[in-house]
Amino acid sequence: MSDFAELTLEGKSLQLPVVTGSENEKAIDINALRAQTGYITLDSGYKNTGATTSAITYLDGEQGILRYRGYPIEQLAERSNFIEVAFLLIYGHLPSQAELDNFSYQIKMHSLVNEDMRKILDGFPSAAHPMGILSSLVSSLTAFYPDSLHPNPTKEEVDLTIIRLISKLSTIAAWAHKNSQGHPKNYPDNSLDYCSNFLYMMFAYPTEKYQVNPVVVDALNKLLILHADHEQNCSTSTVRLVGSSHASLYSSVSAGINALWGPLHGGANQAVIEMLEAIKADGGDSKKYIEKAKDKNDPFRLMGFGHRVYKNFDPRATIIKKTADDVLGALGINDPVLNIAKELEQAALTDPYFVERKLYPNVDFYSGIIYRAIGIPTEMFTVMFALGRLPGWIAQWKEMREQKEPIGRPRQIYTGETTRDYTPINER
Ligand code: SDX
Repeated sequence: MSDFAELTLEGKSLQLPVVTGSENEKAIDINALRAQTGYITLDSGYKNTGATTSAITYLDGEQGILRYRGYPIEQLAERSNFIEVAFLLIYGHLPSQAELDNFSYQIKMHSLVNEDMRKILDGFPSAAHPMGILSSLVSSLTAFYPDSLHPNPTKEEVDLTIIRLISKLSTIAAWAHKNSQGHPKNYPDNSLDYCSNFLYMMFAYPTEKYQVNPVVVDALNKLLILHADHEQNCSTSTVRLVGSSHASLYSSVSAGINALWGPLHGGANQAVIEMLEAIKADGGDSKKYIEKAKDKNDPFRLMGFGHRVYKNFDPRATIIKKTADDVLGALGINDPVLNIAKELEQAALTDPYFVERKLYPNVDFYSGIIYRAIGIPTEMFTVMFALGRLPGWIAQWKEMREQKEPIGRPRQIYTGETTRDYTPINER
């Protein structure tokens, strides 16, 4: 097979190099296109455009494959834990015991946030959406750690910023929840592991001793692992683009949090539960809502269904669906919206509209049912997605800087007015 693509334009022929990845994915390298032809390519939503090369995550949308640094997510979800997977994504290998102990210790030692950040948090009304609090407070970390603003940080500076961000995001997220409840905030308990400590900060009250439930800790580890990275999705591409201007990791991740917030992206997990609740309140007729989702004149979409890349099942949804059954069974919870979700899935998977468009449940379809079962309020669901995706954002930002990528600056095709002269207002 040729290593070049032949392009003929205006009678001239151009050979463009073909790039082949380690999983035999192919791309046409068009770096020379504009200089040699004056042409650019156009690809709304970047559906056919690769922005970079990356060694972090591999996914195959047709086969339903997802691997972090070569390890299948099914194995990591079953046998690893979130902090170990975070190390794997960021540093490229599974840590030795000594590396993992040090990484975990560093994260524990940085879990406190500056008390002045509480003043910022206290300024938010209790009705503030926690994603807005999260992106604001992550951005405010630049004020408390100005060394993070160095445009060309040393490895040690990057490693410290990474530790601070992983550690403090957990505290900030739990405090955003307590802020919405009007309840006292819990300080981190360094005797607990990452997930247990997060649950403690989320659900402990001064009036009673909080008991960590191992079933819930296991489910949370699985959920965070399954959300940890997903190659060049909208929010990760945002983090890489912002970081390409040599903005700090905090600024880049704050931008990623805002991109994730959209209901077509990470905000879908909140939208799924709101949709299921609405269907339940409307009598639970899933077939009625399948028809609404198919009706082009109806703005209703089946949230949690469909994916830009997965044109087969989303492997994460498969694991999360089973985890939902396990957790609700272990906790003795019978949640009617889980049954509605399963009915919707079954109806959609046999309906030509969904089958022809290859629309399957995605990562967001079942995750909210588990979050609900462990007591996390709906508005915190996308915060949970951000908590899980943080190591992926960090790994991708780090790779982009290490690859010395140029500042991202896409081109356009102009379709506005051609040149015209200014006219004084009394002549218009
Ligand atoms: C995430 O990119 C990632 O990796 C993201 C993510 C990650 O880990 O980072 O996986 C996380 O964001 C998952 C997706 C969560 N979003 C939702 O669940 C929202 C509902 N889904 C859709 O809005 C949609 O499926 C997208 C946004 C996910 C994908 O949209 P695309 O690829 O741009 O596809 P499209 O909108 O062009 O849809 C193609 C067709 C259209 O019909 P036709 O014009 O061909 O007739 O499918 C239809 C769409 O109308 N369609 C749906 C549908 N999703 C697509 N119809 C009804 N319900 C849906 N959910």
